[in-house]
Amino acid sequence: MSQGLVTASYVGATILFILALGGLSNQETARRGNIYGMLGMLIALIATIANVTDNMGFLILALLVGGYVGLSLARKVQMTEMPELVAILHSFVGLAAVLVGFANFMGPSTHFTGVELTIHDVETYLGILIGAITLSGSVIAFGKLSGKISGNAMLLPARHWLNLGLLILSIYLCNVFVDQSAAGGGTFPLLVMTLIALLFGVHMVMAIGGADMPVVVSMLNSYSGWAASATGFMLNNDLLIVTGALVGSSGAILSYIMCRAMNRSFISVIAGGFGTTTGGGASASAEEGDQGEVVALQAPEVANLLTEAKEVMIIPGYGMAVAQAQHIVCEITKSLRAKKVNVRFGIHPVAGRMPGHMNVLLAEAKVPYDIVFEMDEINEDFPKVDVTVVIGANDIVNPSALTDPNSPIAGMPVLECWKGDTTIVLKRGMATGYAGVQNPLFFKENTRMLFGDARASLDEVFKNI
Ligand code: TAP
Repeated sequence: MSQGLVTASYVGATILFILALGGLSNQETARRGNIYGMLGMLIALIATIANVTDNMGFLILALLVGGYVGLSLARKVQMTEMPELVAILHSFVGLAAVLVGFANFMGPSTHFTGVELTIHDVETYLGILIGAITLSGSVIAFGKLSGKISGNAMLLPARHWLNLGLLILSIYLCNVFVDQSAAGGGTFPLLVMTLIALLFGVHMVMAIGGADMPVVVSMLNSYSGWAASATGFMLNNDLLIVTGALVGSSGAILSYIMCRAMNRSFISVIAGGFGTTTGGGASASAEEGDQGEVVALQAPEVANLLTEAKEVMIIPGYGMAVAQAQHIVCEITKSLRAKKVNVRFGIHPVAGRMPGHMNVLLAEAKVPYDIVFEMDEINEDFPKVDVTVVIGANDIVNPSALTDPNSPIAGMPVLECWKGDTTIVLKRGMATGYAGVQNPLFFKENTRMLFGDARASLDEVFKNI
């Protein structure tokens, strides 16, 4: 393929990626956005492969292996496992950046001298640094999201000093590496820095407590973009630079949105330590009777309350994803709307386990977009709501976030459903949510519990409606 055609394909792919991001910002255009993204990636792959002259056999083998792994993972992954999958995919980007960095450094192709060599060395160093942090941080995030590692924050003594020390050491090693590389060496400082970056990634994510994980996920997403971008500089590939920058900056914007949603400052989340004050971990259970009595209802009573209501608000959470209850939620919504009940959905920005988790599920079940609202749009409306149905949500409706300054989720805005007439909470027992904190909502006078798997409970409610 001629260089002109390759450049034109790269420009076309870049435009498609930008259109993809634009499309993904809205539910109605998300499908189109995905198609743009796939088309852009196809063009990018064809142009890149057509440009390769050596080792075509290896390339085809790698494509087949990568394609097979990607396809089989995508076919078998459950919706609830998506966040872990995304985390582990970020780690692959980090690993690729590290491997490309070392291959680039050790390869015989270095024809740079003077300032050009210094710039190339710094690119390589940064690519490996960001890649290694992304790699180990994402592996730990995968462990935390899949429950293989405890969700609690691990706080080392003097951790801020430790981080600062590692940062200064990395800058010093960069200097040593550039000097030694000019003299034909540099492998040792590069290896030491890689080790430090791997440890830093582990430490950074281990120090982040349960409820702050959303910020980490989006931050690692951003890092993976910057790692790809740094790889693009190393390989002198414009498309990789631009694509990496798009992922990096959109991930950074998402991290900012997540921080705002959690009422956290970005720096304080990254420095770690939130989500640690109290709470017994994700598996701890709130003991009944600690804060009062809980009142349980049966499905027919819930169906009655719903059909007699004029204003119903549904708040989905992680448990709806676990129970795969979105389709029956949609059926109930349809039948209530047919009975002239105004049904709306309130979505918390960190509901579930990944950004937009609930929106994806509701869209899959074909719940109309115009009755799905963000928290900010409907939080004022709860005093006018007759019945709120909380489906497998916990942290995002926990009033202690607003009232208890010692709570690990203190300061996080929540959906203030207790201000409505009646709140019905669907969950299996009295277990805590992801942040591992008790929820006083369950003990409030106007709260009723419907115990059981959300899907089974809602099936019963639907029959009674
Ligand atoms: P959680 O606070 O995790 O609460 C989910 C609740 O669902 C649990 O208390 C559980 O109680 C219940 N549940 C589980 N399976 C169920 C089933 N089959 N049927 C009925 N109920 C079931 O969820 P949330 O309110 O959506 O809050 C999200 C949390 O995850 C926040 O702390 C957030 O910071 C964190 N997080 C979010 C993200 C993103 S990006 N969204 C990423 C990582 C972490 P039982 O066991 O008693 O049933």
